[in-house]
Amino acid sequence: MLKGSWKERYGDWALVTGASAGIGEEFCRQLAEKGMNIILVARRGDRLKELGEELSLNFGVSTREVPMDLILPDAAEKIDNAVADLEVGLLVNNAGFGHLGRFHKKSADRDADMIKLNCLAPVELTHKFLPKMVDRGQGAVIFVASTAAYQATPFFSVYSATKVFNLFLGEGLWQEYKKLGIDAMALSPGYTKTEFQKAAGLNEDVGGILWETPDNVVRTALKNLGKKPSVIHGGLNRFLAFSGRIFPRKWSIAVAGMVSKSRP
Ligand SMILES: NC(=O)c1ccc[n+]([C@@H]2O[C@H](COP(=O)([O-])OP(=O)(O)OC[C@H]3O[C@@H](n4cnc5c(N)ncnc54)[C@H](OP(=O)(O)O)[C@@H]3O)[C@@H](O)[C@H]2O)c1
Repeated sequence: MLKGSWKERYGDWALVTGASAGIGEEFCRQLAEKGMNIILVARRGDRLKELGEELSLNFGVSTREVPMDLILPDAAEKIDNAVADLEVGLLVNNAGFGHLGRFHKKSADRDADMIKLNCLAPVELTHKFLPKMVDRGQGAVIFVASTAAYQATPFFSVYSATKVFNLFLGEGLWQEYKKLGIDAMALSPGYTKTEFQKAAGLNEDVGGILWETPDNVVRTALKNLGKKPSVIHGGLNRFLAFSGRIFPRKWSIAVAGMVSKSRP
């Protein structure tokens, strides 16, 4: 049983990447509701400012907006400098995007950007903030993975590979740091209504009963932080992810491919 308020467990400040929309925006709201001050990171500074004001007004917390393109090589360094006077006790590596399409028809540069945002940025940011958490003997790092991490996803192959990276990173760090007072965790949402679908070129008609809200996804994450190395949101998503362990791998890949292919 975890004890103490969120501030007692992790300190005063949470840093959330991808705070301008979707799941990241909801992480900001729910962490502010728990009394944590929030550092908001994404490219769209106007949205960060608006959300920061809303959080201060509704929950009486302090906020700091750090507009940043996380694909830039010095992004982690700049963010670290921008919050050097604050103790970041909870880091949410959430910013990410996907891109649907047959591999050879997609741009190599866009795939490289996806790998930088989804994989490299979380590693670099965690290198900035985790050592200070270790010194303080408390902290947490959440990596937003996906149910796409549980089987290869044809036509979304690079994206699902980046999400395996997030899943394994979160789970590995959970074991490495649990005795040092740090709660690392990977969160795997399934279909969640956000701006992700439009950015990825996905047909929003697909998903059916699997559609979820960012609100429910984030509640699952925060409820399980400190208890598990990783969590999949939703019973049906958990069943689908674990069916990949029972049935031949090629079946799960084929099913994932049929779902991706049915999209434009
Ligand atoms: N929605 C789903 O169905 C789903 C399912 C499984 C996993 N996920 C994962 O959940 C995470 C959040 O996605 P979401 O669904 O909330 O998508 P979203 O609504 O599109 O939000 C993505 C966030 O990432 C930020 N971002 C994108 N590119 C960036 C960049 N270069 N630098 C800094 N920030 C950047 C965006 O802000 P700016 O545009 O302002 O920079 C935005 O705040 C992602 O890692 C995604 O892979 C989503």
